[in-house]
Amino acid sequence: MTIMSKEPMTSPAATEAEPDSNRYPRHVAIIMDGNGRWAKERGLPRSAGHRQGTENLRRTLRSAVELGVEILTIYAFSTENWSRPRREVALLMRILEMVIDRELKELNENGVQIRHIGELDGIPERLQKKVIYACEKTKDNTKLILNVAFNYGGRDEIVHAVQNLMCDGVKADDVTEELISSYLYTSGLPDPDLIIRTSGEYRLSNFLIWQGSYSEYYYTDVYWPDFGKEHLQAALEEYANRRRRFGKTDEQIDENFEDASA
Ligand code: IPE
Ligand code: IPE
Ligand code: MG
Repeated sequence: MTIMSKEPMTSPAATEAEPDSNRYPRHVAIIMDGNGRWAKERGLPRSAGHRQGTENLRRTLRSAVELGVEILTIYAFSTENWSRPRREVALLMRILEMVIDRELKELNENGVQIRHIGELDGIPERLQKKVIYACEKTKDNTKLILNVAFNYGGRDEIVHAVQNLMCDGVKADDVTEELISSYLYTSGLPDPDLIIRTSGEYRLSNFLIWQGSYSEYYYTDVYWPDFGKEHLQAALEEYANRRRRFGKTDEQIDENFEDASA
């Protein structure tokens, strides 16, 4: 599988009315939300929701590959999540560590390339080492790129990009959108085509604020632990039926005009 090989979404095929898996998104990002409420509804502690949510990630990875997703970006811990009770933060750290310990071998065998987006600084050192190891170990895999957004914040990412640009002595006139993109954690990857948020919340919560500027958004009331393959497929099908205009008119898309300014 070559990551860059699919037709762009504005190709003539993209104007057909029927859902078509060729028009499924290549890069899907998920805000995995609702673990706490899932647990609360069952009279369980929030930790049970996080555990169930982690279990669901395994299922989702399998479903994503089956549905032809090439890049999956998951929001696992935000820069704002440090404000949660200390015990919950510690649990979320432990969960990532546990996932790496238990799943790395299988993920690697299944061709998953793990990448981390976010700040390593600030997370426990032992976990930092495991994250680096997991990324290094899987770096040549090509079946699915899994971006794990952990200690990730979109604004934080932009601040770091600007700091690094300045450290590199980039001149003001040389700053372009492409250059900024290349300084983000997602450097080299296409922007997400589709961003899904579970649990009925309608916000980005500081997720991919630069990269999501032209993404399609899909919201569902389903809590993350219950978000199964059928829900993922429904999201992809809705995406396949949307028209991504990128500022152009429908007529231009129908005629596949390349130059909107003509
Ligand atoms: C998402 O579930 C997991 C993380 C943010 C780490 P929540 O823990 O936010 O669950 P709710 O929103 O309280 O239900
Ligand atoms: C967003 O969910 C972060 C993750 C899913 C990791 P939150 O539950 O933290 O978001 P808010 O606080 O409701 O905006
Ligand atoms: Mg939440």
